[in-house]
Amino acid sequence: VSDSTGTPRFTLVIGGLGYIGSHTTLELLRAGHNVIIVDNLSNSYQTVLDSIKTLAAKHCKAAGTRMPLVHFHKLDYRSRSMRFLLESYTDLVMTIDASGEQRMTYQSRIAGVIHFAAYKSVGNSIKEPLAYYQNNVCGLVTLLEQLDKYNIRNFIFSSSATVYGAKANEGKPLREDDLLHHAEERVDAEGNRTVTQPSAVGLSCPYARTKYFGESILADVAASDPAWRIVALRYFNPVGCDPSGLLGENPRGEATNLYPVLTQVLTGMRPKLDVFGSDWSTRDGTAVRDFIHVLDVARGHISALGWNADRSLRDEGGFRAFNLGSGTGTTVLEAVRSLEAAAKRTVSLNWTGRRDGDVGVCVASTERANKELGWSPRESVAQCASDLWNFVERTLRLQPAVKA
Ligand code: NAD
Ligand code: WQD
Repeated sequence: VSDSTGTPRFTLVIGGLGYIGSHTTLELLRAGHNVIIVDNLSNSYQTVLDSIKTLAAKHCKAAGTRMPLVHFHKLDYRSRSMRFLLESYTDLVMTIDASGEQRMTYQSRIAGVIHFAAYKSVGNSIKEPLAYYQNNVCGLVTLLEQLDKYNIRNFIFSSSATVYGAKANEGKPLREDDLLHHAEERVDAEGNRTVTQPSAVGLSCPYARTKYFGESILADVAASDPAWRIVALRYFNPVGCDPSGLLGENPRGEATNLYPVLTQVLTGMRPKLDVFGSDWSTRDGTAVRDFIHVLDVARGHISALGWNADRSLRDEGGFRAFNLGSGTGTTVLEAVRSLEAAAKRTVSLNWTGRRDGDVGVCVASTERANKELGWSPRESVAQCASDLWNFVERTLRLQPAVKA
């Protein structure tokens, strides 16, 4: 993608070597976008870059298209180097304002930013809240200041279904406007008045609050200046990976999410899966989640970029949140069965009590993303499981040798 003078334009992907970022980068390249990746490798490996390039080149060769540019910068997005990086993709151009006055302004070759970089472990966020607020909230504020300076105001933010908190327990598909943004006052039949503050929506951990605050900051920034076009994408439970088996989820820390833990049980790294709770009011007593294929999530970002580009043509700005989920609930037990079927092996289960902070049901309404972004998920849970198992067999088992 180039501008009218043939100068290449880029999408900046921060956290672009992580699980969702790497798949989104790959989809961007497949769709012909030039990409700048910023990642400090705190939860990823540089080998991921090679896989992305290999897969994108293969796609371009098959499609007979030019391989887009991929620039990788290993740095912390909060560091001073970020300023120099943004500056290096910026031109100083002469413009004439409404009163006929000439002025020099920054024109960036970065057309849009997708911001994945954050810490994401619920448990660690309770142990180290400041590290989470620093990376997920303070970092975001500094980044927005920098982007504003260089006139880059097309921004996609990784949010999470976790922002719905206890609202999920009502069991209905969650709609974007179910999120309580402001204090709510209720008076019951006896005239008792209760005020529910946003912090009381049932957000169970600092991680959830960082995403909530992130969205609030972005909504305020967008309201302050219509030049900003900001989208928050609330992912539900992303799973699966590219069908090639070359790219997948491979975090540095301890696995705590269901599918990564299941993978460890199936590969003998753990003896059993602890099933947290068998007494939820669901069809088999285990909790229900909305598992969404990571490539569907990745495509959601391409749709959001296109949607923002259309807004830009209409000179419209603002903040808008969209759910990225499948819209379908799957129980923990059904998820176990899906991976057992893909791996053709059985998982040993250890039935145990509910995990602190868990909700019983968390499923997305996909109506808004469908209507406004024109996005809808394509892949099934069975596909997620078979793609994940393919990655385990083709790549993950070999990882210890290449991790260094
Ligand atoms: P991930 O940890 O795999 O990817 C994040 C990437 O950002 C990693 O490569 C990491 O090295 C990098 N990073 C972190 N801090 C950085 C910093 N200060 N500077 C530069 N790079 C940094 O996580 P993911 O699963 O791909 O999640 C991406 C985003 O989506 C996160 O914001 C996460 O909170 C959000 N999210 C994830 C899920 C999920 O289940 N995976 C669900 C909802 C929301
Ligand atoms: C799914 C279900 C567990 C592990 C988390 C974050 C959320 C988002 C996605 C980032 C639950 C059960 C799990 C295990 C189990 N991430 N489970 N045994 O909790 O829905 O969401 O990841 O934004 O913010 O909270 O995902 O995969 O951890 O759990 O029984 O060993 O599997 O209790 O019901 P969750 P999960």
